[in-house]
Amino acid sequence: MSSTQKTARWMITPNLGLDGLQDEVDVPVPQLTGRQCLVRINAVSLNYRDIAMATGRYPLPTSKSFVPGLHAVHKDHQDGIITPEIRQSTLGSQRYGVLQKLAVFEETGLVALPKNLSYIEGACLSCAAVTAWNCLFGLESRALRSGELVLTQGTGGVSLFAIQFALAVGAVVIATTSSRDKELRLEALGVQHVINYKSNPD
Ligand SMILES: NC(=O)c1ccc[n+]([C@@H]2O[C@H](COP(=O)([O-])OP(=O)(O)OC[C@H]3O[C@@H](n4cnc5c(N)ncnc54)[C@H](OP(=O)(O)O)[C@@H]3O)[C@@H](O)[C@H]2O)c1
Repeated sequence: MSSTQKTARWMITPNLGLDGLQDEVDVPVPQLTGRQCLVRINAVSLNYRDIAMATGRYPLPTSKSFVPGLHAVHKDHQDGIITPEIRQSTLGSQRYGVLQKLAVFEETGLVALPKNLSYIEGACLSCAAVTAWNCLFGLESRALRSGELVLTQGTGGVSLFAIQFALAVGAVVIATTSSRDKELRLEALGVQHVINYKSNPD
């Protein structure tokens, strides 16, 4: 591959909502530096933060225009091994989001996709699951242990990951939710204590 290779990507201008989305083709990809890796994007999932950034509601500053997208899995190395040949290849792009065909990441920012997950499943894991993981195990000295109590609120993505991680280490989970259907789903997951905050507001 040569340094003159081109890629395609979506760019967004903040505060214009989805009208600010524009596709760009034939974008030159710059030289990789240091321990950066070139990644060919195969699947992308959307997160609330993507919408917030597009509509100007994200609390942290964003650049004038940027490539949106937080989560993706790459195609060519499903086992996550980036070979020196790939690292030294000359494709790359600015450090942007993942709505593009090729993206550059620091080597330390990449993890292996488990072989039992599809690209689409893998693309949905990164933000909500890592957020839940960090809450429970991010501080090694205070990592959740068997027998400890965990309270989760609602059945959004973060809570559902947290519940499954907590149960996997043998913790006791108290989960709140809003409907009978969801209560049953939580019980089926193995949650020991389910509270419906609508029928039991106190
Ligand atoms: N998703 C991410 O990647 C991510 C990353 C970092 C931080 N966060 C933050 O983590 C929190 C959860 O995110 P999420 O993506 O899991 O959200 P989500 O998918 O939108 O789920 C939120 C859940 O909270 C429950 N809920 C809604 N209104 C409620 C109320 N008034 N009282 C109590 N529970 C209520 C609902 O579950 P029930 O119907 O079962 O009650 C709802 O499904 C948010 O504050 C988000 O900003 C998310």
